[in-house]
Amino acid sequence: MATYTVGILVGSASEPSLNRRFADALVRLGADVGLEFTDIPIVDLPFFGTQYEADFPPVGQRFKTALDAVDALLFVTPEYNRSIPAVMKNAVDWASRPVGENAFPDKPVAVTGASTGDISTAVAQQELKGILLAQGAVVLGAPEVYIHVVDGFFADNGSVADADTREFLSGFLSRFHQHIRRSRT
Ligand SMILES: Cc1cc2nc3c(=O)[nH]c(=O)nc-3n(C[C@H](O)[C@H](O)[C@H](O)COP(=O)(O)O)c2cc1C
Repeated sequence: MATYTVGILVGSASEPSLNRRFADALVRLGADVGLEFTDIPIVDLPFFGTQYEADFPPVGQRFKTALDAVDALLFVTPEYNRSIPAVMKNAVDWASRPVGENAFPDKPVAVTGASTGDISTAVAQQELKGILLAQGAVVLGAPEVYIHVVDGFFADNGSVADADTREFLSGFLSRFHQHIRRSRT
C-alpha cells in the first residue's frame, strides 16, 4: 500500500478546540491506512486582502508551500452559525491566490468536522465542499462524516473512545486513501 502525505487544516481558533482534538484522533488512525498527516496551521494568516496579490507575504508563501508539498488535504471544520468559521474561509482565500497560483485544482481533498450541535457540522461541510469544488479540488463526496461530540466521546489518551466509531472513521480514511490514489492516475 502506498503512503500519501495529507495536510490537515483545522478551521478553529479556539483553545482548546474540539476539532483539533478530533483531528488529532484522526491522525492516530491514519497511519494504519497509509496516510501520513502534517498539520498546516491557518490561524496566523492575516485576513486576506488584494494588496497581498502583488506582494505575497512570507506567512502566505509558507502556507502555499505547505499546501503544495502534500499529496492531499483534509479539512476539519467546526460549524459557526450554520457556516464555516471565518478562519477556515480565510485560509481557502489565501490558498486560491495569487491569480494563476490557486493551490486547489486537481488536489484531492476530504472534509469532516465535529460539533456539539445536534446536526453536527452538516451545513458547514456542505458549504465548504461547494467552495472547494468551485476551486477545482477533487472532493471526496462520501462517506459523509458528521461528528456530534458528547461527554466521553474522546478517551483519556485522545483517541475516539467508541470502537464502532473508530472503525467507521478508519473506513472514511481508507476511502480517502483510495480517492487520492484514483485522482493521481
Ligand atoms: C460563534 C459560534 C457559533 C456556533 N454555531 C454552531 C452551529 O451553527 N452549529 C453547531 O453545530 N454548533 C455551533 N457552535 C458550537 C460548536 O459546535 C462548538 O463550540 C465547538 O466546540 C466548535 O468547535 P471548535 O471547539 O473546534 O472551535 C457554535 C459555536 C460558536 C462559538
